[in-house]
Amino acid sequence: MNTSAGHDDAAAFASYSDAFTEAPGYLNFASYGPPSRAVRERVAHLLELAGNAVADASDVLHHEDLRAREAFARLSGFPLENVGLTGSTSLGLFQVAFGLPGGSVLVNAGEFPSNTYPWLRTSAVGRARVDLTGGPGTRMTPDVVAGGLTDDTVAVSVSAVDFRTGYRADLAGIREVIGPDRLLVVDGIQGFGVADVEWTLADVLIAGAQKWVRAGWGVAALALSSQGMERIEPLLTGWTGVTDPRRYDGEEHPPLPGAQRFSISNLSPYATGAFAEALALIETVGVPAIDGIVATHAQGLVEQLDAAGVEVLSPRDRSESAGIVVAEVPGRAAEAHAALAAADITATLHGEDRIRFSVHATTRSEVFGEAAKVLAPFT
Ligand SMILES: Cc1ncc(COP(=O)(O)O)c(C=O)c1O
Repeated sequence: MNTSAGHDDAAAFASYSDAFTEAPGYLNFASYGPPSRAVRERVAHLLELAGNAVADASDVLHHEDLRAREAFARLSGFPLENVGLTGSTSLGLFQVAFGLPGGSVLVNAGEFPSNTYPWLRTSAVGRARVDLTGGPGTRMTPDVVAGGLTDDTVAVSVSAVDFRTGYRADLAGIREVIGPDRLLVVDGIQGFGVADVEWTLADVLIAGAQKWVRAGWGVAALALSSQGMERIEPLLTGWTGVTDPRRYDGEEHPPLPGAQRFSISNLSPYATGAFAEALALIETVGVPAIDGIVATHAQGLVEQLDAAGVEVLSPRDRSESAGIVVAEVPGRAAEAHAALAAADITATLHGEDRIRFSVHATTRSEVFGEAAKVLAPFT
C-alpha cells in the first residue's frame, strides 16, 4: 500500500468511526447494531419531508428503496435487478420457503428459529418439507451438509454466521457438496456488512438491516441468483410485486421481472432510507477493511478471555469466525451477565452457560480486559 492510499484509508476509517456513538461497553452487535449519526439524520430528514408533505414527498420517500437496493447490489455482488427488499429476515425466509413448490430442505435444527419456522410451516401445508439435522451447537460444515443430503433435497438453508456459535459457514465448500442444482439459501444477517463473504455463491441471500449493517429494524434485502429467480415462485407477494401496480383494474397482474416480484407492499421509507445510508457508510471503508478490524478485535477479546482463564467456545480460526465471541460460564451465565451489566458491558445471555459477545469495527478494545476480568470469577 502506498503512503497516500494508507493515509486515505486511515482518514476514511476515522470518519466512519466518528459517525458512531455507542457506549464503549457495547459488545452486542449480534443482537442489534447501534445506527450511526448519518442514519439517524437521514431518518429525521425523511420524517421532516413526510411532515411537510410537499407535492412529490411520497415519491421522494419511496426512492430510498432504490438507493438501498443499489448499495446492497454493490456490496453483495448481485445485479440490481436480482435485489429486492422485504420487511425482515424472517419474512424473506417465509417468502422463499413458500415459493419452493416441493422437495426437502436441509436445515440445522440449532439455527436461529427464523430459519426453521418457515420450513416447518411449509411442511405443514404440503409444500417443501424440512429435513432438520444436528441441533444447538452443530456447525454446518460441508461434511455435515453432505451427510444430510438425500435424493429429495432441493435446497440447503444455512446462516452465513451462526448466531449461537459464531461459526462462519464455508459457503464455497457447501456449494461444492450440494452441486449446482440444489438451491443454497443463506441467512446473511449475522455477517453482512462485516464479513467479507462471496455472497453470490448463494441462490438466495437474505439480510436484515438491524444488526451488523447498523440501520435499525423494518427492512431486509432479498437477493436471488438467476436459478433462484426461476425456481422460487412469487407466492407470498402482493400488489407492489406486479407490473402496473397502480392500474387498479380488478385483474391479477403478472409478477415483476426481477427480485422486486417478492414485494408485498410499500416498505417504510424510514427503514429503507436508514438501510441505504448505513450501506453507503460501509462502502466508505469497504467490507474487507471492516472484516480485518473485526477479526483483530475478536482475536483481542479471545486473548483476554484466555488470559483470564475463561473458556472460549466460538471458533478461533479467522476463516471460521466473524464478529461473535462466545464465553463459557458453566451454570452461572445469568449472574455473569448481571455482573457485566453492572460494569456497563452489554452482551447477550445465552442459556445457563454462555455469554455471547460481539464486536464491530468501532468497538474499543480497552473494554476486552475488563470484560474478561468480570467473567473470570464465574468460570
Ligand atoms: C441468524 C438470524 N436470523 C434471523 C434473525 C432475526 O431476523 P429478523 O428479526 O430480521 O427476522 C436473527 C436474530 O434476531 C438471527 O440471528
